[in-house]
Amino acid sequence: MKYGYFDDANKEYVITTPATPLPWINYLGSDGFYGLISNTCGGYCFYRDAKLQRITRYRYQNAPADMGGRCYYIYEDGASWSPSFLPAKTELDRYECRHGLGYSKFLGEKNGLSAELTCFVPLKADCEIHKLTLENKSDRKRSIHVFGAVEWCLWNALDDAINFQRNLNIGEVEVEDRAIYHKSEYRERRNHYAFYAVNAKTQGFDTDRESFLGQFRGWDAPFAVEQGACTGSVASGWAPIGAHEIAVELAPGEKTTLIFQLGYAENDPQNKFTEPGVINKEKAHALMARFQTEAQADAALSELAAYWDELLARFSLSSGDEKLDRMINIWNQYQCMITFNISRSASYFESGTGRGMGFRDSCQDILGFVHMIPDRARERILDLAAVQFEDGSTYHQYQPLTKRGNADVGTGFNDDPLWLVACAAAYIRETGDDGILLEAVPFDNEAGTEQPLMEHLRRSIHYTIEHLGPHGLPLIGRADWNDCLNLNCFSTIPGESFQTCSNYESGTAESVFIAAMFVRYGREYAELCRRQGETGEEAEVLSAVSRMEQAVLDHGWDGEWFLRAYDAFSQKIGSRENTEGQIFVEPQGFCTMAGIGGEAYGKKALAAVEQYLVGDYGVELLHPCYTSYHLELGEISSYPPGYKENGSVFCHNNNWVTLAYTALNMGSKAFDIYRRTCPAYQEDASFVHRTEPYVYCQTIAGRESARYGTAKNSWLTGTAAWAFVAVSQGILGIVPEFDGLRVEPCLPHHIEGYTVRREFRKTVYEITVRRGKSDEEKGMFIDGEKNSGSLIPLCTGRKTCRVEVVL
Ligand code: BGC
Ligand code: NOJ
Repeated sequence: MKYGYFDDANKEYVITTPATPLPWINYLGSDGFYGLISNTCGGYCFYRDAKLQRITRYRYQNAPADMGGRCYYIYEDGASWSPSFLPAKTELDRYECRHGLGYSKFLGEKNGLSAELTCFVPLKADCEIHKLTLENKSDRKRSIHVFGAVEWCLWNALDDAINFQRNLNIGEVEVEDRAIYHKSEYRERRNHYAFYAVNAKTQGFDTDRESFLGQFRGWDAPFAVEQGACTGSVASGWAPIGAHEIAVELAPGEKTTLIFQLGYAENDPQNKFTEPGVINKEKAHALMARFQTEAQADAALSELAAYWDELLARFSLSSGDEKLDRMINIWNQYQCMITFNISRSASYFESGTGRGMGFRDSCQDILGFVHMIPDRARERILDLAAVQFEDGSTYHQYQPLTKRGNADVGTGFNDDPLWLVACAAAYIRETGDDGILLEAVPFDNEAGTEQPLMEHLRRSIHYTIEHLGPHGLPLIGRADWNDCLNLNCFSTIPGESFQTCSNYESGTAESVFIAAMFVRYGREYAELCRRQGETGEEAEVLSAVSRMEQAVLDHGWDGEWFLRAYDAFSQKIGSRENTEGQIFVEPQGFCTMAGIGGEAYGKKALAAVEQYLVGDYGVELLHPCYTSYHLELGEISSYPPGYKENGSVFCHNNNWVTLAYTALNMGSKAFDIYRRTCPAYQEDASFVHRTEPYVYCQTIAGRESARYGTAKNSWLTGTAAWAFVAVSQGILGIVPEFDGLRVEPCLPHHIEGYTVRREFRKTVYEITVRRGKSDEEKGMFIDGEKNSGSLIPLCTGRKTCRVEVVL
């Protein structure tokens, strides 16, 4: 069962009922001001940092879910409704929500009156625009009152949710004609404020929540809306809000548009007041002036569309498979950009007060968007390198606003450093800019410790080499990619963080997964060394890579598949000798991708994956699931069977299986795995999955769970980046290399060929792939000329380059 449909021409997903199983959300904003917005216009916004600069309030685990956000009410003759159904909950005659690229549009209709609400964050403007168009489709004159309301969050979202003894005293606002300003804490150390404005004459306002909502009421039925009039309250302490009331008269057939604006501005501390206690509002006024008219708002919306068109055009596919094209051309790339903006900080499953930018997450995300925004990827890589420590280890997370490592989580995840190599290499392959390796970057953001990025990479690689366990495999530390494989944790205290406690520093527990990473990214690094003329280092690392490969073959192979790890007592994990957790997916995918043991091992490992782990909704992480808590394994065994790391379909690593199949040249198998978790192919399972059918989620409950097929943690997942790599580089086979673009497709049977437009190093490659009828036809042709091999040499200085590949 579905709750909507894809509208590819408009690059939208159209939701046709407010009653989706969960709020289905979208993201607004591309640089600074961000909003999360659900299909009922719920959600919240923040400036740059969802924890430290939260603008509007969100209630976690609220019942009903998603009440509030951007609240619009249309009041007429004692009754009211919301264009997005919530918050008013009045049954609508028509409802539609269109989530598009960087905007969401709601269409509500009631009693012959239609309301279209379009919400977006314009480019280079720190605000949300809510454009509301009302149309009288009836043959009578309508007298309505429009109410728009938002609830301010007192900036630090965590403090806002816990520190009431203070917060209920600090709320302050200013009211101006058509604009309400939120200035809590502005009197002291904050130099920023928020505002909520409308471009029309207002009839009334409220800024105090209690006065607007009334006693015993929520956002569904505010007292002021029920009365058809605001009360003019001015908040002082308690809960400040911004609410406007606008009276609108519409003759039959008449239309009118209101532009609401929810903005943020920062002042120079020297110049923050115009008189004692009064905000200098110059910046807000300037921002308001940019979006006063419908024409201005529409122009901003078109600019936004052009921005997305340009980004997405850098890789566009026509394959004859509508769903594949839809994912590649629209949703997969879009989701990659959202992970660039938000990392793992704010979604309906991530509180925005927690994880900030994950180190390994952000490194991997780069693989998915580097072709769209190489310059910003470059900056991200340097930011990431700056949270590395001198010994090569890294902070596990950092805060987007300060760009400093989060000390409360610290370090010790031994896969982290290697991901830095992965993303730096991907960046150089994409751009050719090896100058990045010379950029001076500090360790732990400490001025004076700067070293070239290349030295950071060296320390990443040597961190692994210097931290090997008894089998010559890398020590796992707190965990590797699988954050829940906490082999030194041994936690017995309820609520203790599995991620941060190490009650038993064994110096023994080893990870086969990190070994595979080392083989793959060690080679990548050695290649960078060769290109930098560091041949001694190149040779040293290549020999460490060979030793690692051998260590995996000697101690990381279980006979039919790759082992997962050795625990703190050097007992095997992920072996048929175990009773539970006999096989894990991660090493099967990654070791095969790294070519360890060649085709023979890879084929066996993938056959085992197929036998034990592949279900209808994707490849499960392990089998059989752990049924009880294992002190020596940590968080992985804390989840009930089939959930999260304990045997759900963890979509991220499914792409490694896809890539492993393409490494073995098995296109149809690769595609089959891809399809099982791919949103567009799974749209019909929306009822089971419950999450948005246009983006990837992190996890889908596995066959051993009590809720098989239920998906969770949509949006912010490394799945997006790896799915894009799996399709673009694995299946379509278009791989950016240091010296050019390689095209080596590994197509499934049902795809006969494709055309791709790929921008690469300032040239547009128009690539056509088709299956040939005879051997003579086969090969690669560049502008009609036969090329030897599958690498397109750089078409430097050329605007376009036509490439034909006959398979
Ligand atoms: C989750 C992991 C996640 C980790 C982050 C765990 O509770 O299960 O998926 O990576 O938290 O801290
Ligand atoms: C989600 C985390 O963000 C990611 O870093 C980790 O690799 C996976 N969970 C698996 O545990």
